[in-house]
Amino acid sequence: MDLSSLPREKWWGDEYLVQLEGFWFRPQRVKPIKRVINHYNPLPSDVILVTSPKTGTTWLKSVLYSILNRSSKHKLAVKHPHELVPFLEVQVFAEADEPPILPAPSDGPRLFATHIPYQLLTKTLDYSQCKVVYLTRNPKDTLVSLWHFVNKWNMEKVDQPWSLDEATDKFCRGISLYGPYYDHVLGYRELSLKRPENVLFVTFEDMLEDPHGYVKKLGEFLGCPFEKDEEDEVEEIVKNCSIEVLSSHDVNKSEESTTWFPLPCNSFFRKGKTGDYKNYLSNESIQRIDTLTKERFHSLGFMY
Ligand code: A3P
Repeated sequence: MDLSSLPREKWWGDEYLVQLEGFWFRPQRVKPIKRVINHYNPLPSDVILVTSPKTGTTWLKSVLYSILNRSSKHKLAVKHPHELVPFLEVQVFAEADEPPILPAPSDGPRLFATHIPYQLLTKTLDYSQCKVVYLTRNPKDTLVSLWHFVNKWNMEKVDQPWSLDEATDKFCRGISLYGPYYDHVLGYRELSLKRPENVLFVTFEDMLEDPHGYVKKLGEFLGCPFEKDEEDEVEEIVKNCSIEVLSSHDVNKSEESTTWFPLPCNSFFRKGKTGDYKNYLSNESIQRIDTLTKERFHSLGFMY
């Protein structure tokens, strides 16, 4: 594929995004994304976590890994959640010349993650009985989290931080990693309503309010429910996957970056709260996002 033929927009610093089938991606992701679309055939036992960036992916990776592997405490203490649960388009299908590294299904359900929008994965998911967990987060906190993340990334490249006004404008215009955010959420929201047995739609805010209830709900959805006498196990998972515990492990505190992403491992953990946007966004920006949210979500009965 000729990347230069794709529409492109400046993102931050000298980074730009290219548009493929209505969504915006970093140019180097386009080919691996195409490989996932063309070559990934999910097994019925596969579990795929789908998110937009900065909606709590790292958290849910550790939760799903723990649910499927039960005693995972030790693993979580020594491996970053992104190593335990690889992204399809970033790790598994990263190399064009090498066959993807897919674990043997005999070792239990394979757990992957992706940010690819449903609109591009329609065929892949519509013909599979695999389980999809979609996690989303309110747009204002997602934007503020992304802005912090990018500025950490930015630090070594350009002197000027990425302004929040510019980040807000890009986000509202849909020019965001794997965005437009609203289309990303709605694609999976509709799919979850159509195929609730295969697709579970979860919000960061609901998880934060009732992590215990959601660990149990996810266990049921994945076909490995917790028995009545396993309450302690549920509690352990909640605790081991909390931001306090996860971010205290050396592997997650590390300033080293992974082989596949140019940011330190600790960049995936910041506050992990809801409503942090109030400390950063202007009233004008809040209004602009709220209006968009009303137009795009509320009209379909999805409240944020
Ligand atoms: P904040 O920047 O608002 O703190 P992603 O994993 O999709 O990149 O999302 C990162 C966001 O999830 C960050 O949000 C990060 O702090 C938060 N996060 C990471 N681990 C978490 C956990 N265990 N519990 C709650 N939030 C967590």
